[in-house]
Amino acid sequence: MIQMKNKLFTLQTTNTTYQMKVDQYDVLLHTYYGSRIDDSDLSYTIQSVDRGFSGNPYGVVERSYSLDTIPQEYTTFGTGDYRSSCLQVMNSDGSHDCELRYVKHEVYQGKKTLEGMPSIYGTEQEVETLEVTLKDEISNVEVILSYSVFETLDIIARSVKVINGADKQLKLQKVLSCCVDFHIANDFDMISFYGRHSYERAVERTPVRHGKLVVDSVRGASSHHQNPFVILCDHQATETTGNCYGFSFVYSGNFIAQTEVDQANQTRFVMGIHPTAFEFLLEPGDSFTTPEVVMSYSEHGLGQLSRNYHKVYRHHLCRGKYKTARRPILINNWEATYFDFDDKKLVKIAEDAAKLGIEMLVMDDGWFGNRFDDNRALGDWFVNEEKLKGGLSSLCERVNALGMKLGIWFEPEMISEDSDLYRAHPDWVLRTNGRKGTLSRNQFVLDMSRKDVEDYLFEAISKILDSANIEYVKWDMNRHLSNVWSAKLPPERQGEVYHRYVLGLYSLLERLTTKYEDVLFEGCSGGGGRFDPAMLAYSPQIWCSDNTDAIDRINIQYGTSFGYPISAVGSHVSACPNHQTRRSTPLHTRGVVAMSGTFGYELDINQMTEEEKEIVKEQTATFKRYYDLISDGDYYRLTNPFDNHYYAAWEFVAQDQSKALLNFVLLKPQSNPQIINIKLQGLDKEAKYCINDQTYSGQALMKAGFSVPVMYGDYTAAQFEIVKIS
Ligand code: DGJ
Repeated sequence: MIQMKNKLFTLQTTNTTYQMKVDQYDVLLHTYYGSRIDDSDLSYTIQSVDRGFSGNPYGVVERSYSLDTIPQEYTTFGTGDYRSSCLQVMNSDGSHDCELRYVKHEVYQGKKTLEGMPSIYGTEQEVETLEVTLKDEISNVEVILSYSVFETLDIIARSVKVINGADKQLKLQKVLSCCVDFHIANDFDMISFYGRHSYERAVERTPVRHGKLVVDSVRGASSHHQNPFVILCDHQATETTGNCYGFSFVYSGNFIAQTEVDQANQTRFVMGIHPTAFEFLLEPGDSFTTPEVVMSYSEHGLGQLSRNYHKVYRHHLCRGKYKTARRPILINNWEATYFDFDDKKLVKIAEDAAKLGIEMLVMDDGWFGNRFDDNRALGDWFVNEEKLKGGLSSLCERVNALGMKLGIWFEPEMISEDSDLYRAHPDWVLRTNGRKGTLSRNQFVLDMSRKDVEDYLFEAISKILDSANIEYVKWDMNRHLSNVWSAKLPPERQGEVYHRYVLGLYSLLERLTTKYEDVLFEGCSGGGGRFDPAMLAYSPQIWCSDNTDAIDRINIQYGTSFGYPISAVGSHVSACPNHQTRRSTPLHTRGVVAMSGTFGYELDINQMTEEEKEIVKEQTATFKRYYDLISDGDYYRLTNPFDNHYYAAWEFVAQDQSKALLNFVLLKPQSNPQIINIKLQGLDKEAKYCINDQTYSGQALMKAGFSVPVMYGDYTAAQFEIVKIS
């Protein structure tokens, strides 16, 4: 609900309130974000003090009124606010001035899509939008701030449109999507999700401090190294208590998320496209729209905040058939064969897999061109008939005859130097004119800002998808951008290439996912290098990490769960010793961990013993039984694996609280062991539940806990089904 009194705007969700106000100088102030309250004018909480060296806009009489100190909705560089700015322009005369003042506002039911970029969506009943227009009177630059309120989800989505109303060119040097000036609650921890290839989304919690704290990526992709999701919370906030604010950026390219604690101990948070190497030229009348930031707030700790994101991304961002349809349990041949496969090997894997309840074979890297290793052939998207005798359609027919679907791997954005595509189009490489560029995994990046490149990829991928009954695509990306320069753009537009790359990628994905609406797309970037909300709009699942070690995965999946639904987490059972860590874990444990995701296998099933195959059969049946609970249930983190090295536990609870599933892994067995009581969450406290034929009250399970039977052994795991009986 959006309430308006004069020029006071109060955005209400079921549990949160966000407020802004146009002041006497037409500056749009931020007055409040937090626990739900009425629509009282909260600008009384802003007390101005005359602070030396914080100047006053011309014409303002009070020396205590300074843009350098008051909380605002959208801040500009160059006119007296020295804190982090959202907008930095260069006017045609070389100046940076842009003084934004309120002009008008509009409220409507529903939410517009963002041109060329994914965004969350809802019906007119589910979402209401406020647009506030600000303007610089001298340059005629206009800024439209958009706030879409998903009332029942406690979600507010923000984006910004800048319009060049001048009669001369305008250069944008920085346009962020969101600013929140916390002047009341302002003593936060920042939680961010850092990592590296094979070690993604580790949780780091650190107090914000005077000056800036930055989480970012300038890799051209959202990256393994930092995720475009951060949380600001009370120092004492836990899974179940405390104030927590989430900021999630629906974008797959360079990003920045930054806190700044100022001279008055106020905390400013900003988020958007990274300004490094960014410039965007607007001709008169042109506009630029930013990607959106999805904000949420919980006063009941981190668990509730995560569940808010799970719901909105699962139901209001993911699209297409597989948003709700059950996704097939797959077996991928990458760790089974790497590049060493042919059609016979693949069919043999499919034969065994089909008998065990697995539903789809995914043929990974190596089926095309001259691709016998990772040094060549990217870009040559035609079948290698030396490997696949009879071509793709023959393979597909044989796999389909087993009752299995067939999926296929692509790495569309890349090009190998040793490829027909490179020999034909060296100028399609993203690299600076006259320089050799930088190789990574011995490959270059295609210039996705070019329409001819996008069209080539659309045709080449379509040709493959049309040639056989392919029902799944794994979309990989195995290096980051460097030497970013496009042969198609003039020098003054080279600052647009990073962003245009992302737009080109989205455009291609939009065309393909629309044309092949029944095909399940899975995102991937050397594992979880592009695990961001924007990619979820095209691929409802993303390969979470190239690290398939079940114990490492507990941490990776734990970190991922803070901002992303479990239904998005690509997770497989792989062979032991594990290929990345050489660690051995029981097959059962690998299944329990992989089931907290999309579930599949990544091993040579032909090498398994009969006993192991029986376990696989049980696992696929178990996953199918719990599918709805896992993908649609509420998710609860019960332990933090970064702190608790004894055991890990997490839980799924059905929306109607009729059922739950407790997952448990013993990380480090103890002699003379300490007893483990786990307090469950999310159950009906009035109800009775049954676990292993024993009856408990919901209240007892949540307050006194469930007493886990004593277990021993390396990485022993268990699943406990919790069923409501009355
Ligand atoms: C990286 C992916 O994450 C792997 O699963 C596999 O597809 C390889 N690329 C293939 O090159």
